[in-house]
Parts: sequence; C-alpha cells; structure tokens
Amino acid sequence: MSASYLCTLCVLCFVLTLARGVYIRAPSGKESYAQYPKWNACINASLSFEFKTSQGTGILMYTDDGGSYDFFELSLEGGAARLRINIVDGHDGSVEFQVGQNLNDNKWHRVTLQRNRMETTFSVDQESSKNVSYGSDFYFGKLENNSDVFFGGLPESYMKNLENLALPSVMFSKHLAVEIRNVIYGNCSCEPVRGSLVNGVSLDGRFTEACEQRNPCGDCLCISADAGPQCQCDETDRCGKGKRTGYSGNFMSTGA
Ligand SMILES: *[C@@H]1O[C@H](CO)[C@@H](O)[C@H](O)[C@H]1NC(C)=O
Ligand SMILES: *[C@@H]1O[C@H](CO)[C@@H](O)[C@H](O)[C@H]1NC(C)=O
Ligand SMILES: *[C@@H]1O[C@H](CO)[C@@H](O)[C@H](O)[C@H]1NC(C)=O
Ligand SMILES: *[C@@H]1O[C@H](CO)[C@@H](O)[C@H](O)[C@H]1NC(C)=O
Repeated sequence: MSASYLCTLCVLCFVLTLARGVYIRAPSGKESYAQYPKWNACINASLSFEFKTSQGTGILMYTDDGGSYDFFELSLEGGAARLRINIVDGHDGSVEFQVGQNLNDNKWHRVTLQRNRMETTFSVDQESSKNVSYGSDFYFGKLENNSDVFFGGLPESYMKNLENLALPSVMFSKHLAVEIRNVIYGNCSCEPVRGSLVNGVSLDGRFTEACEQRNPCGDCLCISADAGPQCQCDETDRCGKGKRTGYSGNFMSTGA
C-alpha cells in the first residue's frame, strides 16, 4: 500500500467517523447534557438546530430566565416534538405546540423556533405550528439572569437549586440520547450566528461538527453537512455584512 493511499484512507476515516454532530449519550441515572451559549430571545429572535435520535421520549432543549417565569422547553414525546413556552410574566401564560411524528427514526431533523412579538412559530422539517402568548411583556427574561441553552438534559447541580429554574419539573424528565448539530441563533441580530458547545457531560468525545473542525466561510454562516462544511451567504448578504470573495452561489459546498 502506498503512503498516499494510506493517507487518503486516513482522511476518509477522519471525515466519516469524526465529522458528526455533538453526541449526548444519556447513560441511565447519570448526568448528561450539552450546554450552548445564551440565546438573546428578543421579540424577533430565532433558534434552530438539527437533531438525530432513536429515543422517542425525553428532553431535547431547555432554556429559561433563571427562575422567575419564562422558559422554552422542547421535548420528544412518543416520537412527536412538543414545545412549551412562557414569555409573559406570571405562571398562567404558557402556550404549547406539537409537531411531527416518528422523529426518533435516527435521521436528521431540523427544528426552528421563530419569535415575532407575541406570536411564536415552531417548525420541525416542513411542518409548523404557531401559537400566541397574551400578556404585556414579551421579553424573554433579563439577559444577565437567563440560563444557557441545554440539550439532552440539564446539569445535576440544579437539583439542589430548583428555585433557579422557571420550570423545575424539567429536572424530573427523562434525558435524551441525541446527536445535535448546527445550533444557529437569530440572537436579536440581523444575521444568524453559530453557537459552539460551551460544556457538557456524557458526551461522546469522538464527534465534533464539520464546521468546528474547519470553518472556511469567513463572514458567511457555516453549516455542517455530512460531506463537510458548507457556506451559506444569503442572510449575511441581506444584512449587508458580506465582504466575501470567491463564492458564487447562495449555498455552496466547499467540499469535505
Ligand atoms: C396554544 O397553547 C394553548 C395553551 O397551552 C393550547 O391550549 C392550544 O391548543 C395551543 N394552540 C395550538 C394551535 O397549538
Ligand atoms: C437578576 O437576579 C438577581 C438575583 O435574583 C436580581 O437581584 C437582579 O435584579 C436580576 N437582574 C435583573 C436585570 O432582573
Ligand atoms: C431584530 O431586531 C433588532 C433590534 O430591533 C434588529 O437590529 C435586527 O436586525 C432584527 N433581526 C431580524 C432578523 O430582523
Ligand atoms: C447571544 O447573545 C448573548 C447576549 O449578547 C450572548 O451572551 C451569547 O453568547 C450569544 N450567542 C451566540 C451563539 O453568539
């Protein structure tokens, strides 16, 4: 075998086994979660990500205001995605959404939460559902006290400090064994930004996203695809931030 053949093989293995999502293993009875930065969920904000799982029930994502009223709780229940949110002050303001079925088919699914003042749209793949929160305050918590964004479960330390959660019951939900990639924040800004893993427990350390290994996209958004990083420039252009050179399409693969 020639050295270059071995080398090609080696690069191929690297791409196939390592360029995946962040995998949360969720061993039973143990702490497990992946932690991403805060979401500045102002009235036009969005949050989206892709997930892949074979488990039908458990916590997919959670973030809250640090223990007052506001929360976003997204879970799988019998293979359907259920979102519960509260963005108005008071305990009676929560609204629910349910979308999709058989989402535990071990294929990638894209979730998007899009805020538009009192209306929130929750989408999974091509299906979406809207609901409206009635109240006088549509701001999601106060940024300084808001929690980070958690996937698959929450840190066990909250068990001793349930008062720091707006929805303490989340600690008694089943953790989810799930793979996550392309966590993208419409962070109260015009252009979307990628969130990177901040911390985690029970993660499979062999996997990192393609865009975390190599991000060739400059000011454009990097999307981790199976074949490697892809650059998405349309939003960046629309927001007048595009200083890019050399990209001709809106969504152009840069190869693996
Ligand atoms: C909106 O949320 C309320 C409160 O949870 C729920 O009763 C209603 O069915 C939801 N509407 C839709 C369209 O899902
Ligand atoms: C954040 O929480 C602390 C402690 O509960 C509180 O004193 C402070 O006013 C909160 N900050 C804001 C901006 O609400
Ligand atoms: C959301 O609102 C902020 C502040 O009002 C603005 O700067 C930003 O461009 C808006 N984002 C989008 C995606 O419209
Ligand atoms: C979103 O904005 C908040 C507040 O500015 C910041 O703490 C957080 O890191 C941002 N998230 C990302 C993914 O940049």
